[in-house]
Amino acid sequence: MGVNLTEKESVFAGRRKKILRQLKGHAALFISPPASLKSRDQDYPFFPNRDFFYLTGFEEAESALVLLGANKGTRSILYLRERKESEERWTGERLGLKRAKRRFLVDEVRDICRLPHDLPTLVKGFSQLYYAPGTHPTYDALVWSLLKHNVAPRLGQLHTLKDSRLLTAEMRLIKDRLEIQNIRHAVDITARAIRMTLRDLKTCSSEHHAASLIESNFARLGAEGPAFETIVASGRNATTLHHRPGLQPLWKRELVLFDVGALYRGYAGDISRTVPASGTFSSAQAEVYDVVANALDVALTKCHPGGCLDDMHHAAIRALVSGMLELGILKGNVQQLVAQRAYLPYYMHQTGHWLGLDVHDISPIIAGGEEFPSILRPFQAGMVFTVEPGLYFPQDDETVPKAYRGIGIRIEENVLITASGHEVLSNGIPVAREELTSLF
Ligand code: GLY
Ligand code: MN
Ligand code: MN
Repeated sequence: MGVNLTEKESVFAGRRKKILRQLKGHAALFISPPASLKSRDQDYPFFPNRDFFYLTGFEEAESALVLLGANKGTRSILYLRERKESEERWTGERLGLKRAKRRFLVDEVRDICRLPHDLPTLVKGFSQLYYAPGTHPTYDALVWSLLKHNVAPRLGQLHTLKDSRLLTAEMRLIKDRLEIQNIRHAVDITARAIRMTLRDLKTCSSEHHAASLIESNFARLGAEGPAFETIVASGRNATTLHHRPGLQPLWKRELVLFDVGALYRGYAGDISRTVPASGTFSSAQAEVYDVVANALDVALTKCHPGGCLDDMHHAAIRALVSGMLELGILKGNVQQLVAQRAYLPYYMHQTGHWLGLDVHDISPIIAGGEEFPSILRPFQAGMVFTVEPGLYFPQDDETVPKAYRGIGIRIEENVLITASGHEVLSNGIPVAREELTSLF
């Protein structure tokens, strides 16, 4: 189902309106920074600031959004780079001010060059500014210059800085229709790319080769690229959570862990699957795999309105611990082992995180604060997150039975909370061992 431009622009305008309602007499500045220099005249690939993108859908570097929530009326101003033929010839066409005026439902569009000059006037009369420090040194300095006073600030002068992520975090926690549509597509591409890659896995000479294949399959399926650095970890490398693919061959008797995500219209997929390079699990590999797969099933039973990330995590921990008891990796009883956190050497990450514009979307502390971090927030329809239990047994851990040493397994699903339960968005790629290996 396509979304026409006007509908899309009205979605972004609706989000800005919600922010303006929250601002009540305050101002906010959202920045999408300039591209970062890599070396000589090469830039790193540019990635727009996620909050700025959430509020505008605009992907060009060096842009800004000023929202003024004055009591006598609100104002929205979009800043962007004006067109410049000599630069566009090298780095590509820009939207420019004239076309931006037609496209964006904002009150004004201005040249970004004017922002340092305009900002002091724009915030005159406002005491509080929302801005995310650390967005870019140039704009950090600009904001700091507005807050610096030699004497105590006078009436009508800016004196309080608040993190602008406080404004967007709550909104970004519950995905709207357009977001769900994009995430669904990003996840679907991710699942299909893994399937396509498994078919050709035997031709892969290394982790790096398999990672390139995944990424070319993302492109073939219409993704913008990977949403995060593609993880392909062979054998014991899978015991490193975010292993960077290298030239290590995919040895036939070893497992290969894929943790990959396509980027589609700014949204991330994030799926993990662990497969035997040969297409057949050894019995030790199968035993560990089934413990993790069972923990996934148990965790999914907690994914419904009213559950929360923390409950889901603890359910997965209990299942992993009882599985490790059965395999003789841990000794004792489940309750005590969980209380002693005896699982930590083999399971050291959370079972899920919010998923959206960022792969690790929304800091748990920013939404809800330290008192009530969002891992405790009851699930509501429209929340999207990962469920990703795993087990990682270091090669040199002599307390682990030999057959399990060097095994690392993670299975990661992407889940949408619905009114009555949940939907697994990543079911385009199976989890069950037999189904997974039948794809080879
Ligand atoms: N792909 C990173 C993660 O699963 O958290
Ligand atoms: Mn994840
Ligand atoms: Mn992942």
